[in-house]
Amino acid sequence: MIKIKTAQEIAAMRKTCRLAAETLVMIEEHVKPGVSTLELNNICHEYIISHGAVPSPLNYRGFPKSICTSINHQICHGIPSERIIRDGDIINVDITTYLNGFHGDTSKTFHVGNPTPKGEKVSKVALECLNAGIAVALPGVTINNIGKTIEGIAKKNRCSVVREYCGHGIGREFHEEPAVLHYADQRDRITIRPGMIFTIEPMINLGKPDIKHMKDNWTVVTKDHSLSAQFEHTILITETGNEVLTDLGGKITEMG
Ligand code: MF3
Ligand code: CO
Ligand code: CO
Repeated sequence: MIKIKTAQEIAAMRKTCRLAAETLVMIEEHVKPGVSTLELNNICHEYIISHGAVPSPLNYRGFPKSICTSINHQICHGIPSERIIRDGDIINVDITTYLNGFHGDTSKTFHVGNPTPKGEKVSKVALECLNAGIAVALPGVTINNIGKTIEGIAKKNRCSVVREYCGHGIGREFHEEPAVLHYADQRDRITIRPGMIFTIEPMINLGKPDIKHMKDNWTVVTKDHSLSAQFEHTILITETGNEVLTDLGGKITEMG
């Protein structure tokens, strides 16, 4: 069942989404060569807790940390560890906050130190895919317009779209209906309606779309070890269009 949010629920979603976005903006200056992903985790954890919220990933289906950090060929769900990030790495930091009973979810791929041409390419395409998906997430059209648009842009740039993970409704639950696919799918019959809140979070690979899991059973990586990038926003569908709830004046969707 897709939940249409009430005015009160929307007000609460604005707050949790703003906090998630603020956390992502806050962590940017710490994303530097020589820092461990555990340090990034701990700084975000403290920030979220000090704002009266809880990091949603912590203990979610057994996830052991408070944020996800996915480096280079890691696609998503990377577990923060003692691993040190290095000049030229790309790293996706995915923040989800649980504030007053509601989840807000956003992520961004950062360049560590000096960007490499490949890192720059894949993150630029991932960001373009997210922005184009948001632009067609409008009331009255079917939800797969988003996936069709994203897949088109990825293909045009000779990149591929990860198929195993998708965007999702979000609210009182971390992952709600609908599933928001990032590729074209003929079976789509869901019409986007005002009051829906969902994420768009395309994972874009420089090489093939195929994935595998690392031994920790969480970290998802590209099978061919090609670079992968992702950006994520939580959006509210309005009567006339949409509102990006995790945007702070465009700061998130600028390049990291
Ligand atoms: N934040 C991720 C998403 O965008 C989900 C992370 S689940 C976790 O949906 F358990 F890995 F944290
Ligand atoms: Co999400
Ligand atoms: Co997320």
